[in-house]
Parts: sequence; structure tokens; C-alpha cells
Amino acid sequence: MSIRDHFPIFQHKVYLNSCSQGALSTDVQRSYEAYLNDWDEKGSPWELWVERNEAARHAFAGLINADPNEVAVTTSVSAGVSALASALDFGGERNKVVVSDFEFPTVAQIWHAQERRGAKVVHVPAAGNLIPVERFAEAIDERTKLVSITHVSFRNGTRLDVGAILELAHRKGALVLLDSYQTLGTFPVDAKALKVDFLAGGVLKYLLASAGLAFLYVRKELLPDLQPTSMGWFSQASIFAMDVYANTPSPTARRFESGTPPVPSLYAGVAGIKLIQSVGVERIEAHIREITGAIKEGAMRRGFNLVSPVNPAHHGALITLRSHKVDLLVKRLEEGGIITSSRDNNLRISPHLYNDLSDVDRLMDCLTRHKELLV
Ligand SMILES: Cc1ncc(COP(=O)(O)O)c(C=O)c1O
Repeated sequence: MSIRDHFPIFQHKVYLNSCSQGALSTDVQRSYEAYLNDWDEKGSPWELWVERNEAARHAFAGLINADPNEVAVTTSVSAGVSALASALDFGGERNKVVVSDFEFPTVAQIWHAQERRGAKVVHVPAAGNLIPVERFAEAIDERTKLVSITHVSFRNGTRLDVGAILELAHRKGALVLLDSYQTLGTFPVDAKALKVDFLAGGVLKYLLASAGLAFLYVRKELLPDLQPTSMGWFSQASIFAMDVYANTPSPTARRFESGTPPVPSLYAGVAGIKLIQSVGVERIEAHIREITGAIKEGAMRRGFNLVSPVNPAHHGALITLRSHKVDLLVKRLEEGGIITSSRDNNLRISPHLYNDLSDVDRLMDCLTRHKELLV
């Protein structure tokens, strides 16, 4: 059985929209059935479901080479980052948050919400399809508390020079939050090797599961000094202590969790991550590089306007092309059985482990038929 056979959608569509939502596998479908069976057969197996939360924590930790105690299991990136924001103090001299213009809006919005608590948000603007490291160097200084960057931009597929930005930030004593939603599952992300302070992501896209499950990694040395005010019973040292007289946060990153975990999504998330790991992230990276290479080459040969950088070191699994009628183009492709998406005026094409070169041929044929929408 080839990996593509795990994804029934390919029997009738070319799926190229993993930056938005991974395709449904038979594995994830079965995991939802397992959830319903457990519920039906066992009644209310909360011990099992709390164990499932731990399984998700271990799966995330394994994926990014972290200790499970450094991982909070959350229902969205927004929930994790909001809990983190609630633990940061913006009252003193060090109150600056440096945010790239390539961020997913939710992250930037959360930092702007901290302005009421004293935060000064500074944006690092793009220069065309890149944000040069020098721009970060200009923005990060001794007053910077946090640098909040995306690993790969959801808008155009550009990959930031995370290593260089981390070095700049740490030299000035600032912390770094990396939003790896658009990279997890597409190439190895090692929180320890990166020496990143915080890292967030979720399972919806290249981790092949569905809505409701995400995580926040917090470097363990930082945990004792971070006391979130966004809390819940699942963030307590003892979840089932049921103490109404005190807030006793967990000593681990679980203190960034909240209420009842998203049980069905835990089943699906673990199944999606297992499928990725059964193939291996390094192999997936090489495969995606071949497919994105063919997309770029085919687009440039036909004179289409490539927005993503040409150099594979500067883009992720997402390749974008400029279109002056992008909604219509997405519709035309859909009519041709090809699923893509758009942001700004960019057509977003995001292959994954399940795509092959025949998908690129079909895409190029369809784009050529509608090239008046592209050039
Ligand atoms: C880079 C990035 N961050 C975050 C999110 C989503 O965040 P949340 O889980 O809060 O919806 C997305 C996509 O939906 C994304 O592309």
C-alpha cells in the first residue's frame, strides 16, 4: 500500500491545500471511529481520555525533540499563545514585542491585545517576498521582551532565517516565540537544536489531523518564572484536586492548559502524527522539495509570476503564484478537480507526502488553460 492509498480523496481530486488543512487519511478516519467506540462501549472513560491527552503531549514532544513536561496541549495556537501572554510582564523597561509582518493574524492580534498591559508592539516589515535579517536587527534591542516569528509564512510560503533571528534576539536578552504551524510535518523541527524559548503549532495542516488540537512548547528553564493568569482545572498541579480555595499551577508546561481537553481531536491528532512519523519527516522533506521544485520550474517556464522565493532554503512546502483574479482561479481549478486556496492575491499550492509529479502535471495543464488569470 503506497502512502497515497491512505488518502481516498485522491481517487477523485488532486489535493494541493495542505497549508490550510491536511487531507483526510483512513488512519485519522479510523481514529474518530475508535473515539466513538470507546465512548459507546465504555460509557465515560475519563481516565482513558486523560491518558489520551498525555499521548498527545508525548507525540508533540517527540516531534520537536522536547521533554513532555515542556509541552502544553491546547485547543488552538491562539489558546497557547494567549496563556503565554498572560504570564509575561510588560510593566517594566523591557516591554517591546517584535512581530514580523508575515505572522498569522491571531499571533499578532494577541500581542496587540497586550498593549493595554503596557506592551509596545513593533512590526518588522517585508521587503518583497522576504524579511531581511537586518530588519530584525534594527527592531530588536535591550527593551525587547519577545520576538514573535513565524517559521514559514501562511501568505506566501517564505521561510524566515530563524537561526539568525534567534541569535540576534538572545544577544539582546529577548525571548523568542516560533510559530511552526506551517512547518511541522514538512521538515524536522528541533526545539533544542534551535534553542528556541517557545514554540507553537497544531495538527490541522501538515500533521494531517483536524481542528481542535494544538500545543505550546515552553523551554523548561523558563517555567518557574512564568505564572499564567489564563488558567483552568487542567492547568493545576493536581487536575482532580477540585480545590475551589486556591490556584495551584502545575510545575510543568501543563500550567498553560485550560479546561476539558478536546477528546475526539486527541485521537485524530495522535493518528496524524503517527502517520507522519511512519514515513519519516526527513523523507517527507526531500519529497516535498522535489514537488515544490517541479511546481516552481513549471510555473517559471510558463511565465507565471512566482511570489515565493526561488531558493528552496527560503521557502516551505507552500508555493504561491500571483493572480489578479485569485478567487476565480481557485474556482476554475476546483472545477478541474484541483484543490488549492488563496491569500491576498496569491494562489497557494501546498503539496505534501501524498502528492506526486502527476499532480503537478495536472495543475500546470489547468493553470495553462486559465493563464489569463495569472499573467
Ligand atoms: C502560521 C499559522 N499559525 C496559526 C494558525 C492558526 O492558529 P489557531 O490554532 O489559533 O487557529 C495558522 C492557520 O490556521 C497558521 O497558518
